[in-house]
Amino acid sequence: MQEFDPQVLNEEPIPSPEEFSKRAHVRSLAEYREMYDHALRRPDEFWGEQAKMLSWFEPAKRVLTWDSPHAKWFEGGKLNVSFNCLDRHLEKNANKPALMWEAEDGATLQLTYAELHARVCKFANVLTSLGVKAGDCVAIYMPMIPELPIAMLGCARVGAMHSVVFGGFSATALADRIADAKSKILITADGGFRRGKIVPLKETSDAALKNCPTIEKAIVVKRTGEKIGWQEGRDLWWHELEEKASKDCPATPFDSEQPLYILYTSGTTGKPKGVLHTSAGYLLHCMWSTRLIFDLRDDDIYWCTADIGWVTGHSYIVYGPLANGASIVMYEGAPDQPRKDRFWELIERYKVTIFYSSATAVRAFMAWGADWINSHDLSSLRVLGTVGEPINPAAWKWYYEVIGKNRCPIVDTWWQTETGGIMISPLPGATPTKPGSATLPLPGIVARVVNLSGEPVPPGETGYLTIQKPWPGMLRTIYGDDDRFQRDYWSRIPGVYFTGDAAQCDKDGYIWVLGRVDDVIKVAGHRLSSMEIESALVSHVAVAEAAVVARPDEIKGEAIVCFVTLRSGTAPSKELRSALIDHVGATIGTIARPADVRFAEGLPKTRSGKIMRRLLRELAQKGGLPGALTGDTTTLEDLSVIERLAKAKGLDEE
Ligand code: PRX
Repeated sequence: MQEFDPQVLNEEPIPSPEEFSKRAHVRSLAEYREMYDHALRRPDEFWGEQAKMLSWFEPAKRVLTWDSPHAKWFEGGKLNVSFNCLDRHLEKNANKPALMWEAEDGATLQLTYAELHARVCKFANVLTSLGVKAGDCVAIYMPMIPELPIAMLGCARVGAMHSVVFGGFSATALADRIADAKSKILITADGGFRRGKIVPLKETSDAALKNCPTIEKAIVVKRTGEKIGWQEGRDLWWHELEEKASKDCPATPFDSEQPLYILYTSGTTGKPKGVLHTSAGYLLHCMWSTRLIFDLRDDDIYWCTADIGWVTGHSYIVYGPLANGASIVMYEGAPDQPRKDRFWELIERYKVTIFYSSATAVRAFMAWGADWINSHDLSSLRVLGTVGEPINPAAWKWYYEVIGKNRCPIVDTWWQTETGGIMISPLPGATPTKPGSATLPLPGIVARVVNLSGEPVPPGETGYLTIQKPWPGMLRTIYGDDDRFQRDYWSRIPGVYFTGDAAQCDKDGYIWVLGRVDDVIKVAGHRLSSMEIESALVSHVAVAEAAVVARPDEIKGEAIVCFVTLRSGTAPSKELRSALIDHVGATIGTIARPADVRFAEGLPKTRSGKIMRRLLRELAQKGGLPGALTGDTTTLEDLSVIERLAKAKGLDEE
């Protein structure tokens, strides 16, 4: 969790630019408060009214059925998510660009709504021809290419769930996720491009599929043209299937609660959780929040830089923007390819008006320097967004001044894989912003900072961020594990949703999210579990015990530090250290590669045997306590000194 400097609370809020407010969907704080109060007093009426922005085959009979912790939104309603993202735009906007895709090497592809619709229909027919039925799960392990959203929308069209696994995950991680969801089909590519190098997705898929008996077929997009392994009878080329498929595929009506997707995310234990999202409530949350928070209008060019492998890409590249009929930019590669001004060059060329990125990216741009930016015309921009981790006020101000030239409101959006959509964020024409604060909850979202008994904590005190009432985009359960759903989110503070985040509320009701209170680590906004990394470490023959903590990192927010005790007879060495880092990368994925592995004789433990993470965290941050450590990562550290120190100070119970 980051250090919180109370000084920031005294800074003057920055009002929305007047010109912006005049044309915005929500034009003043008073207007926001009116909406908020209405939603609070009459939630059913409020959400019932919002739901009219979706196209229904049959309207819902009820807004919400709440049998805590199980919610059903818009029961009785029938709709098709892909119809909402595509078909309904065709009458007026068939020739409007839906997807403007740019490859890392500069190749481009533009798909209008009519073209995207046709490709999704064809792919939906492909899925049906392979025996995919409503309720089945399709795993997707792909690079950032147009076929990825096409695959997702194709699944939605036939009522199948997708489970997108980020391309940076390992074969083991992919296999675990396929097994948990019992996916029938895997969609992948021969490879992807990242920083000019090839990411061998098919090779990793092949390794994963050795242990995936539920998979019947693998559909492979030809992206790199590299030579790949091929299993006859199982592997099929995407382009061959698509070529043969009819583009006639009427959208089938599905129930509001039809499962839309599973997305795995890290929790406190070693086992990732399959967050389940369903159709109508989720889509409404995405569509409505995209419109309000980015103040989206017909002529906007919208670019969210996330990878679709994460929830931000699901909600704010695919479902939210397309449900609104927006024109979106999608970029395949890295921000520094071929040079560190790639993003600014893209903004200039596509005339991007809305730019949604991460705090880590902003900090990296800051470190690269303004020279990369100043040679580009960024005057098309009108709204800037950030997500994924707390943004420090210095980075916020830099974003505002150097990218937004002091005229673009910044929306610091707080939400989670579980919430489905944005929950706390400024509305750009209405909410005065305070750098570092996600500001106020959206209308209909009842967020409160409380203590463990559920009582609100006074302004300026740290507490737990909770959501007090169900909301449309909320996860419905953890796939296959209702007990864990209840336990992790609804039992810590009975009756309310526990976010796992610490926060403070200031005197104006603004929320300052400080970071996680559990063992979840956020590296560059990616969510990783300490336990998952620990189990990866102990699966290495040399390791007896491991404890993993985060230390603050100037660019990535947090970095992973591992304390490892070795099996007897194994000596620490630089080679072993690299081998352990590689081992974690191979077991979980490259995103989980530790920044540091430190060898210790024994790990400091409480009397009851629990590892004292708080002390390790301190140690990881400061690089050592007096007399205890040398900072040399290859020698054995004697952490018993810390343990003795802690015990002497009575600090041994966490
Ligand atoms: O700790 C919060 C942090 O990211 C967590 C959710 O991570 P994930 O499910 O991967 O979703 C990330 C993208 C929505 C939260 O519990 N977080 C997210 N946005 C913010 C944030 N922390 C502070 N400020 C934010 N704007």
